[in-house]
Amino acid sequence: MALLTKAVRGTNDVLPFTGYKTKYIEDMMLSISESFGFSEIRTPVFEHTELFDRSVGETTDVVQKEMYTFNDKGGRSITLKPEGTAGVVRAFLEHGLFNEAMPQKYAYVTPCFRYEKPQAGRLREFHQFGVECFGADNASADAEIISLAYRIFAFFEVEDLRLEINSIGCPECRKKYQDALKEYFKAHTGELCETCLGRLERNPMRILDCKSPVCSSIAKEAPKILDYICDDCRAHFESVKKYLDKMEIEYTVNPSVVRGLDYYTRTVFEFISDSIGAQSAVCAGGRYDGLVEELGGPSTPACGFAIGLERFMLLLEARNISLPEKNPVDLYIASMNEEANLVASKLAFDLRDEGVICLFDIFGRSLKSQMKYANKIGATFTMVLGEDEIAKGKVKVKCMMDGSEEELELESFTDNFTDMEFNKAMEGFSDVFDSDDAYENNEE
Ligand code: HAM
Repeated sequence: MALLTKAVRGTNDVLPFTGYKTKYIEDMMLSISESFGFSEIRTPVFEHTELFDRSVGETTDVVQKEMYTFNDKGGRSITLKPEGTAGVVRAFLEHGLFNEAMPQKYAYVTPCFRYEKPQAGRLREFHQFGVECFGADNASADAEIISLAYRIFAFFEVEDLRLEINSIGCPECRKKYQDALKEYFKAHTGELCETCLGRLERNPMRILDCKSPVCSSIAKEAPKILDYICDDCRAHFESVKKYLDKMEIEYTVNPSVVRGLDYYTRTVFEFISDSIGAQSAVCAGGRYDGLVEELGGPSTPACGFAIGLERFMLLLEARNISLPEKNPVDLYIASMNEEANLVASKLAFDLRDEGVICLFDIFGRSLKSQMKYANKIGATFTMVLGEDEIAKGKVKVKCMMDGSEEELELESFTDNFTDMEFNKAMEGFSDVFDSDDAYENNEE
């Protein structure tokens, strides 16, 4: 087979065999975040390029090297979103959501696009589950979002991630730190990469997350921000730690967590895994108190995080964590002829309205191959409709698990089938309760 083209490098297809897992994960993450008061928000996949230049930051790797930017037919510079936060902040401002009762808490699932070198856990199109909380400057907000990420990981039984936290201070304390960094890196100008040389004057902190091996080894010995933060930022950081201690959420303070995006202030954090290779940050986030104002809005403190969903899936695979199975097909209706197939189509139509997953033949296949197909898809029940069944108004429904059969009236078939299905499920339960083991356990 000569394919015209293949998927673009660094992108993934989600196939039906695993699609339900992705959906389950996203639904559960959204639902857990709902219990923390976060409501779902969706923003467009592309935005005006300047939004990311101003928020993510012009000196970051993401803006300098990784964005999918193009001019649309109207000559506007458009960028596919490289991350979720900027679009949410833009929507928060554009729709005047800052006038609503604070805090405003939003959760989202979004595709993101970065032109990075693909490898395990690093894609050019990837997906984030993220949350953003606006309006709260208290340390309890930082701790609350961290506890939300923690809850999500605990729900999926991924409990051995390392939570690393740090404070990168406010613009005030950062000035002193930037000066110290400049001085340190100036002694290494001969070794820094060209991009970092450009960053030296404008934003030396970005040299700290340069991916070049030489720059990153120089960065290891650079001054640490925690030695420079002001009293207010330090008190905030101590308070975040207190809240985490109270919730018994373990963490380590890692002064080299500085994040690769410019909008962060004060608390930054990452959840790190040792089981998915070099791209080990499964979740990352922090506080960004200046961003709303930077984008033209009223001064509004904010914080949030994003979990990389592909990395999260890798983690589940690496740790052999199984997810609930895909819902099976409840009933397959095989038909002997065209007329029976017509009846099957109506039965299926009505059953589906009651939530029964029901399939019938849409191929015109022989009865034998219909039954083969029913077997292959693992239908829980099957039935065969032919002239006799239609004439008598009765049909035998077979349970494929134990081979038992039950005759049901075609009249009010939906009710008859759902009652039978329910009784069969209860039989399954009563088997468990009737067993000696269960009885003995009850007695204890
Ligand atoms: P980020 O660290 O750039 O932060 O990305 C968050 C997460 O997205 C990472 O921890 C990782 O799991 C995943 N990720 C990033 N790049 C890739 C990639 N190329 N392939 C696969 N997964 C990737 C942000 O995006 C911030 N917006 C997070 C945030 C929200 N901060 C505050 N609110």
